[in-house]
Amino acid sequence: MADLLVLGIETTCDETAAAVVARSPSGAGDIRSNVIRSQIEAHSPYGGVVPEIAARAHVEVLDHVIAQAMEEAGVGFNDLAAIAAAAGPGLIGGVIVGLTTAKALALAARRPLVAVNHLEAHALTARLTDGVAFPYLLLLVSGGHTQLLAVEDVGRYRRLGTTLDDAIGEAFDKVAKMLSLPYPGGPEVEKQAAAGDPQRFAFPRPLLGRREPDFSLSGLKTAVRLEADRLAPLSDQDVADLCAGFQAAMVDVVADRVRAGARVFRERLGSGPTALVVAGGVAANGAIRDTLHKLAADLGTRLAVPPPVLCTDNGAMIAWAGAERLARGLTDPLSLSPRARWPLDPAPATARA
Ligand code: KG4
Ligand code: ZN
Repeated sequence: MADLLVLGIETTCDETAAAVVARSPSGAGDIRSNVIRSQIEAHSPYGGVVPEIAARAHVEVLDHVIAQAMEEAGVGFNDLAAIAAAAGPGLIGGVIVGLTTAKALALAARRPLVAVNHLEAHALTARLTDGVAFPYLLLLVSGGHTQLLAVEDVGRYRRLGTTLDDAIGEAFDKVAKMLSLPYPGGPEVEKQAAAGDPQRFAFPRPLLGRREPDFSLSGLKTAVRLEADRLAPLSDQDVADLCAGFQAAMVDVVADRVRAGARVFRERLGSGPTALVVAGGVAANGAIRDTLHKLAADLGTRLAVPPPVLCTDNGAMIAWAGAERLARGLTDPLSLSPRARWPLDPAPATARA
């Protein structure tokens, strides 16, 4: 059997991305191209992603991004085994642009369409980069999502815990905004934190020690806001110290909640995970990575974190998830509808507030 070559298209948020990935019959992946066109400049005057601007920008550049991905991979549409696109969850205008383009290509090239859940793509990336086997414990941390999941197979996800309010990336972005740091905030807060004193402020660590592996982050965010208001006008050192204190609290929260997640994983699945996998944009944070590295060793497992360019939104993860689905015979009809909301676990044990 030959390698499966899949084109992947990502347009659910503020990156327009396309990539070609190969999957060998043994399940090994190889990225042949990975083109990402960021819209950060278009959105930065507004301090966040504006859905209408995002959708229009995807329309303008997607054709070029796909052409570039195909050219860099050195393949034609006839070489592809399938065309995959993120069909949600995300900003619906952008999702429509990517999915409709994928359908048109699938129809014209007579290739199957694979509709990929954007979160599933984040969840499966560690199998492309690190060859992780099922089942594993996944910490999914992006701008919109903060969840702990048991990944049992392609298409089989059990949500163990979730955030009761803000997502971790969202908390980073909001803290950055209140400190007048540029958008997107996560990387800026991390940069500032490196020059700050994490001990100066004693910020709360919400839900620490709680059994259920859920998160709550709005109290921490509010504590930073109150301290910033009290100190205003802020010196450069104040900003750095606030970021350091916030990030230190976040690191403690993440470590404690993942520990709780590992315990629940073992209870529900009857054995431990093959790995602790971190996915989503926040996985780019060095302090969080370092802590999870130690924690994984503590838990008797290993940490798998894709490189930063594959943690934030990209086309390779969509192509790879498409290839994983295709290898199992999972394709989709051209009548498939895009979805703004699309949980990985449709019937989770509910988060207890
Ligand atoms: O997965 P992603 O690229 O987009 C979504 O699907 O949401 O995640 C973006 C999020 C943003 O909230 C951003 O601030 C955060 O990831 N992020 C970080 C870092 N880099 C990106 N948060 C903390 N530290 C970072 N170094
Ligand atoms: Zn994402």
